[in-house]
Amino acid sequence: MIKIFVVEDDQFLGSIIKNNLGKIEDTGVHHFLTAQDCLDNLHLNPDIITIDFMLPDMNGLELMEKIRNFDDSIKCVIVSGQDKVEVVLDVYKKGAADYIMKNDDAVVNLEASVRNLFKAVIQKKEVSTLQEQIIDRNKYSNIIGSSPSVLKVLRLIQKVEKSNIMVLITGLSGTGKELVARAIHYGSPRARKPFVTVNMGAIPADLIESELFGHEKGAFTDARDRRIGKFEEANEGTVFLDEIGEMDLLMQTKLLRVLQEKEVTRIGSNKPVKIDARVLAATNRNLSLEVKEGRFREDLFYRLQGFLIHLPTLHERGEDVIILAKSFLSEFCKENKMTQINLTNEAMKSLMEYKWPGNIRELKATMDRAAVMCENNTINPDDIVFSNS
Ligand SMILES: Nc1ncnc2c1ncn2[C@@H]1O[C@H](COP(=O)(O)OP(=O)(O)OP(=O)(O)O)[C@@H](O)[C@H]1O
Ligand SMILES: [Mg+2]
Repeated sequence: MIKIFVVEDDQFLGSIIKNNLGKIEDTGVHHFLTAQDCLDNLHLNPDIITIDFMLPDMNGLELMEKIRNFDDSIKCVIVSGQDKVEVVLDVYKKGAADYIMKNDDAVVNLEASVRNLFKAVIQKKEVSTLQEQIIDRNKYSNIIGSSPSVLKVLRLIQKVEKSNIMVLITGLSGTGKELVARAIHYGSPRARKPFVTVNMGAIPADLIESELFGHEKGAFTDARDRRIGKFEEANEGTVFLDEIGEMDLLMQTKLLRVLQEKEVTRIGSNKPVKIDARVLAATNRNLSLEVKEGRFREDLFYRLQGFLIHLPTLHERGEDVIILAKSFLSEFCKENKMTQINLTNEAMKSLMEYKWPGNIRELKATMDRAAVMCENNTINPDDIVFSNS
């Protein structure tokens, strides 16, 4: 439902406007006689507010300014008897969505104006629902498992998610490092801002600097346009430096400087830009060993390790193997609109005995395969094909 406030000190005119707008499908309209009444009710989250220019307690523009300070996505329509060009321009400049002349057609024109704003309001609502869904899907409650080692990880996530502290996530391939990084971002006050992943292992060494920090037009042969880097793209959000162990020593030096100064300089520019991005990093390498062997800078290692979250292998999670297997099966059945598939005791036993070198990613692929292979909605040991056997 779209909520509309009508602020009009003339009781009679206000009621006419209210009734007229109320006829539009799926709207709820409130009428207020004063600016203060309107301000006192902003917590009801109106989408559109029509404002009379001359109110007893406040000028319409002043009211609009206060409304937009509260939430600048509220669409304000100013209704006024003034038709001086300067006044009209000023109204638009101060952020009004529309301006309606107070004449014989005012009520009809106001209805047309409000209908026009609907599309933008509905779009905004759709974007924020989508945003909430993304946040929900990525929160730590989606990390399945109840073994002591996983509960410890969940507690650590809760401890770090609200702050800006740098977190290093370690663990073997497929143990859920990216899942944890997303959980931290989407549980943080930055959740509605970008989560930007950069995979150090997937970008050629000579392109990493421009990828992370951006470049100016003409900075190097292929730089046809100016481009901002991932740190700037993640402004007010989070940068996830995945596979940080793959970064070469020269780049590590540059990264360390950026983390210390909290500013980046695009290639080909000499003007640093302030950045506000939280940094999370992950690696499946043993970084302290990399440091010992001279492949990773010690100072960067300590800096990144502001907080360390280590993910256990799947085999170390005991009964979680079964909880995860069942959850992946339910997911598979739901996606494919099938009735629930069950595991026999023997099948569970063989899942528990296997070592899972590919960890949770391997378990998911194995369960998907078994779900396709099995008959009568029951998985027997024969339906399970391990990739390592
Ligand atoms: N505890 C968990 N509960 C549910 N799903 C999980 C869990 N851990 C991992 N997964 C799933 O397993 C898959 C692999 O996880 P993810 O990509 O986060 O691992 P990774 O550690 O980043 O692996 P790699 O080192 O290979 O990049 C994903 O599909 C993820 O959703
Ligand atoms: Mg990963």
